[in-house]
Amino acid sequence: MTFAETFFSQRVRMTNASAVSPLTRQGPTGQRLDRRDGALCLDGVPLAQIAATVGTPFYAYSAMALRADYAALRHAVAPHGVEVCFAVKANSNIHVLAEFARLGCGMDIVSGGEMARALAAGTPPRRIIFSGVGKTEAEISAALQAGLRQINVESAAELEVVSGVARALGLRAPVAFRVNPDVDAKTHAKITTGRKDSKFGIPAAEIPALYAAAAARPELNVVGLALHIGSQILDLTPFRQAWQTMAHLVKDLRAAGQTVSRLDLGGGLGIGDAHHPGPDLAEYARIIGETVAGLGLELNVEPGRWLCARAGVMVSRVLYLKPGDAADFAVVDAAMNDLMRPALYDAQHPAETLHNPRQAPGTQAHRLVGPICESSDDFGKYKNLGTLLPGDLVAFLDAGAYGAAMSSTYNSRGLVPEVLVDDGQFRVIRRRTEIRDALNLEEGEAWQKAC
Ligand code: LLP
Repeated sequence: MTFAETFFSQRVRMTNASAVSPLTRQGPTGQRLDRRDGALCLDGVPLAQIAATVGTPFYAYSAMALRADYAALRHAVAPHGVEVCFAVKANSNIHVLAEFARLGCGMDIVSGGEMARALAAGTPPRRIIFSGVGKTEAEISAALQAGLRQINVESAAELEVVSGVARALGLRAPVAFRVNPDVDAKTHAKITTGRKDSKFGIPAAEIPALYAAAAARPELNVVGLALHIGSQILDLTPFRQAWQTMAHLVKDLRAAGQTVSRLDLGGGLGIGDAHHPGPDLAEYARIIGETVAGLGLELNVEPGRWLCARAGVMVSRVLYLKPGDAADFAVVDAAMNDLMRPALYDAQHPAETLHNPRQAPGTQAHRLVGPICESSDDFGKYKNLGTLLPGDLVAFLDAGAYGAAMSSTYNSRGLVPEVLVDDGQFRVIRRRTEIRDALNLEEGEAWQKAC
């Protein structure tokens, strides 16, 4: 039995334990949300019970969903020898990372902070890849001393710094070059990273000379190439184009006498939404097989969203109702600082009431908005919530990726709690920050004379 089958069968066993209404939400490998006597539950735990314990807003993640989605992806790509490294930026809570680390998942990090989190979660350094366009000398030094798997270098200038740090430490730095394949990932402009006008990667034409120069340096161990063309990619064609470009480049480098042993295929696999079913995993794996699997390379992917988005919800309470033109406003206690994706990318997260929706004739659509003093603090218009009343609880779905990880304390709001649900239990895995936490950081130090 595969991991996915094991977890799915556990899921089925749990859901059979009590009377369950038709599914409201399914993940790729099983259901996470359902209604029991009308109450919306995450893996059998009523979200309203968590709200009563930790207050609102809060994030909740299903540990089983995290494990099942990892297992499904791993199962799909493993036949091509592909390792999975979770992009920590999508959800950097160390308890979430630990779920993946325990399963042997590697990590893709972009800062010293993320390195500390990946290590704290128990990821062996040899499974950690350091990506990012602006690593500092201190971060590079920490990465080399920790013995990370590789540093994905994004410019000739960065290569110089890596070289210098490695020489100073007397260490050999494992580096891969991030290629900019000039492929449009056909996703939101703000999360498109593989076009030639983007700041990321090195143009393919410049790679051979840089690769040869780096390979000649004793302080560098040039292991291969990397790329990442964007995020929330729903059409798999750009992956095919980009990976074909990489395959050509690998062959050219080898023909020129270089050793290329690794290829990091990037992240970016999107999840379905109301308008699109989402890419097919088997097809994704097939494209890997057709483009790069035959090259005798160590391969890895670095997905973030696909592994954790559907495992998480953000729950919020309705504060006030206000008549509006096209839709009534429901002012909720969560805001753009808690879930930035609607404000930044016009994303609309599906929403469900925690109670069975009250259907009344003439029920209007609701526009869910937060308390922040900006019109961008708007989660969008919803037609499925029935009649809302103050005090009602609403869950925003698919919020496990780039939700809590991107939250801020704008308007001096605290960071909201994160809760992990597992095996019929729940635990707080990040506490709510209070204003005293923020004020403590601002105690103010002694004045220093400027010269
Ligand atoms: N690898 C690298 C080098 C990346 O920059 C990223 C994401 C990933 C992997 C993971 O991508 P994923 O599989 O999660 O699509 N905040 C945006 C997404 C930004 C993604 C940035 N880079 C959002 O909420 O949609």
